[in-house]
Amino acid sequence: MKGVILAGGLATRLYPLTFATNKHLLPVYDKPMIYYPIQTLVKAGITEILVITSGPHAGHFISVLKNGKEFGVKHLEYAYQENPKGGIADALALSEDFADGQPITVILGDNTTDADITKPVKNFKKGAIIFLKKVPDPKRFGVPKFDPKDHKKIIEIIEKPKNPPSNFAVTGLYIYDNQVFDFIKKCHPDFAGRNELEITEVNNFYLKKKQLQWAELDGYWLDAGTFDTLFLANLYWAKKNGSPDLKRISLTL
Ligand code: G1P
Repeated sequence: MKGVILAGGLATRLYPLTFATNKHLLPVYDKPMIYYPIQTLVKAGITEILVITSGPHAGHFISVLKNGKEFGVKHLEYAYQENPKGGIADALALSEDFADGQPITVILGDNTTDADITKPVKNFKKGAIIFLKKVPDPKRFGVPKFDPKDHKKIIEIIEKPKNPPSNFAVTGLYIYDNQVFDFIKKCHPDFAGRNELEITEVNNFYLKKKQLQWAELDGYWLDAGTFDTLFLANLYWAKKNGSPDLKRISLTL
């Protein structure tokens, strides 16, 4: 299995932090954000990785990641998405040659998790797997709607729903077979009103073909795409890594 990390976009939600560099290189405790998705992939045995980026600071990735040896990555490739507002599915289309007919594990570069996805990666055969996590603010995410008669069966995934049909977020961690590239070609930029190609539309194509499986992500998960979640991700990893200085402020974590 090969891995793809999507680390593009302009991250305007994080201005002014992202005026000077790409969001995925901002610190999360003691590491640049993108180290975490790399570690998630390497822990699952994935050591051939493509980083897809875009925007004005794309060159910064090479100075930080170099050739990836330091992380146990055997082969690190980079790709550049010309339109930074093209969306996740548009960026993913650039991995078709890299995938070379094989399945891929895809992770968004701002998703930090300590979950271990080794088993689903090793056992993957066909179709797609998405990972869900219960969240207090589902409106910010892709959200699954379950069949009222079968609470384990997803009938639709809605991107940024005004009235979320469940408390689950579709996390930015996906496993796809090679059909993903055909589905991306069928995506419509107006799917969620954001004028971009949405990964949620791709997941709905798999769902329609009855080839979408899901699992609940077992462990901590946050996307660090807003000031608040970036701050929380910093706190989580500081605590997990035993930062002695956390005691200096009164926080109940
Ligand atoms: C993206 C996806 C969304 C998913 C989220 C996870 O949202 O579109 O379906 O739930 O990542 O982090 P965006 O970061 O584009 O708002």
